[in-house]
Amino acid sequence: MTLKEQILQGIPSELPAKKQYPEGINRAPKRKDILSIEEKQLAIRNALRYFPKKWHKELAVEFAEELQDFGRIYMYRFKPDYDIYARPIDEYPAQSKQAAGIMMMMQNNLDPAVAQHPWELITYGGNGAVFQNWAQYLLTLQYLATMTDEQTLHLYSGHPMGLFPSSKGAPRVIVTNGLMIPNHSSPDDWEKYNALGVTQYGQMTAGSFMYIGPQGIVHGTTITLMNAFRKILKKEENPNGKIFLTAGLGGMSGAQPKAGNIAGCVSVAAEVNEKAARKRHEQGWVDVLVENMDDLLDRVRKAQANNEVVSIAYIGNIVDVWEKFDEENIFIHVGSDQTSLHIPWTGGYYPVDISYEESNRMIREEPELFKEKVQATLRRHAAAVNKHTAKGTYFFDYGNAFLLEASRAGADIMAENNIDFRYKSYVQDILGPMCFDYGFGPFRWVCASGKSEDLDMTDQIAMEVMQEIMEHSPEEIQLQMQDNITWIADAKKNKMVVGSQARILYADAEGRSKIAKAFNDAIASGKIGPVVLGRDHHDVSGTDSPYRETSNIYDGSKFTADMAIHNVIGDSFRGATWVSIHNGGGVGWGEVMNGGFGMLLDGTPEAEARLKKMLFFDVNNGIARRSWARNEGSLFAIKREMERSPNLKVTIANLVEDDLLKDLF
Ligand SMILES: NC(=O)c1ccc[n+]([C@@H]2O[C@H](COP(=O)([O-])OP(=O)(O)OC[C@H]3O[C@@H](n4cnc5c(N)ncnc54)[C@H](O)[C@@H]3O)[C@@H](O)[C@H]2O)c1
Repeated sequence: MTLKEQILQGIPSELPAKKQYPEGINRAPKRKDILSIEEKQLAIRNALRYFPKKWHKELAVEFAEELQDFGRIYMYRFKPDYDIYARPIDEYPAQSKQAAGIMMMMQNNLDPAVAQHPWELITYGGNGAVFQNWAQYLLTLQYLATMTDEQTLHLYSGHPMGLFPSSKGAPRVIVTNGLMIPNHSSPDDWEKYNALGVTQYGQMTAGSFMYIGPQGIVHGTTITLMNAFRKILKKEENPNGKIFLTAGLGGMSGAQPKAGNIAGCVSVAAEVNEKAARKRHEQGWVDVLVENMDDLLDRVRKAQANNEVVSIAYIGNIVDVWEKFDEENIFIHVGSDQTSLHIPWTGGYYPVDISYEESNRMIREEPELFKEKVQATLRRHAAAVNKHTAKGTYFFDYGNAFLLEASRAGADIMAENNIDFRYKSYVQDILGPMCFDYGFGPFRWVCASGKSEDLDMTDQIAMEVMQEIMEHSPEEIQLQMQDNITWIADAKKNKMVVGSQARILYADAEGRSKIAKAFNDAIASGKIGPVVLGRDHHDVSGTDSPYRETSNIYDGSKFTADMAIHNVIGDSFRGATWVSIHNGGGVGWGEVMNGGFGMLLDGTPEAEARLKKMLFFDVNNGIARRSWARNEGSLFAIKREMERSPNLKVTIANLVEDDLLKDLF
């Protein structure tokens, strides 16, 4: 059977043979065994509704085994035999080009070179799913292959509810992931309802088909680091020879050295897991590998003296480095941490003075003792950081729960009011006020032809557009513009493409819209093939997340989720090809609502009209909300936007004098 025939048949008419799980594939961990006997029966009944009755007897036994062995029913037998990756858009069977673009993006998220657990349909983050099972995948692709531009496919947490009549201007797909009645959104609710097959954790770009591999995290980390240095350096200074100290060379934290090099500093990343450190070194993500403290001190001093740009991995515990650098009076300009403190008791954070192997034994055999050691280490860690910040180091929390867990361990980490932490998070201090409030966020695109020449051409177009905008940009956003021009100029050199031909670039509403229009013109004139636009959910408007994306909202509204919901509804009727809204994401189930979109540009005037309307709203919705929360940058940005867009009328907050409130109560 050809690929087209296989996609068009959906669930095969003959029961496929049972599959052997292949060697060397990164398999999802066994999930919690949380269902009662009755609930397990319900899970099997739910799974079997995808298949004809004649197969039920055989599949019931198999699915019960999967549920028992892995805690979920993935329906491995139905995984198709063809290779799954982002094919050129024309290779997909489709009546709708937009639907073909969505198939391409879905397949990219499930490409074994891209996805974390491809057989369990998980793209990243341990649980970020595209679908719950292979039946959903097969049916969805069949619907996409047969639908027209006058229909919309509704996906409920991976389940294709069906095609409904709509119109050309409507989205082709509406995605919801993990949406729950609020009181039923605890982590165990996810375990239970996911095991029942009725909901899934879409993370951010996993369940919305917009993941582009490590490029996204490298760019975000670079932007954060550049701006962190900017906060503390004088205008005429640059980060060369200045130290950024951090920990972690794992999944996402491994981006830190690469980002350090692009930002132009000396980065030192401690990593207790020797294998992880060596892997990053072999991959070329970190320049120098150092195995003992004396060598580290020598290498760092040399890098300082020569004003070098270099990334150094130290195999060992981060606490030793903070303490030793204090003793030796090595000045750290910027400090942070990316150990996995969101999971402190199961290997996310390793205690000092205990070997890596011994720690792992303790996790299994003496979990209580391990917890004590972690908490004692966190107290030492915070104390050492405090010594450096007293000397002038700028320290920020990297969204990994360092401050939260340190405070729970009783570390000296609270501010004088005993409510806030002594240090701010990267969103509160850097990304929020310097990027999101002005509308700068992780805009991205994918060249649907699959050609790297197209990506080169789009890089060039985007750079020219940004340079042109910069010529008349106000002072407030000049630095952001310059950073992104530098990023796009070097983007190819940084060799970040894995899977689809994708690029990320932080841009504001004007930048996103003008770049997209220039792409559409280039498609119309035949210079490049179609382009899919999108963004990370970790952005200006898409995500309500009180401890991350909206942590710099101080009017009390950070615990509301209106912005994300307005965003997804607003984008959907302004021209998005697909929209998605999720519960969950980087910070956990029940802790965040996040949404995104995808838009296929095909060079038509209709695409131009859509991109203009939708990208404008997609960014300015969040700026308006941030301005209502009295955020300074957003007040500036939304007033500027109203001046040049007469149809935009946003309610502007009146600011209140502090003195007026002092004696009221
Ligand atoms: N803010 C963001 O944009 C952002 C981005 C990425 C990751 N994060 C957060 O950062 C954390 C790390 O993510 P990841 O994907 O890299 O996780 P990971 O678990 O793959 O990597 C963390 C690494 O830290 C190492 N480590 C643990 N304790 C250590 C210690 N005391 N000293 C030295 N090394 C130690 C571990 O061995 C591991 O390799 C997570 O909590 C994640 O949520 C935030």
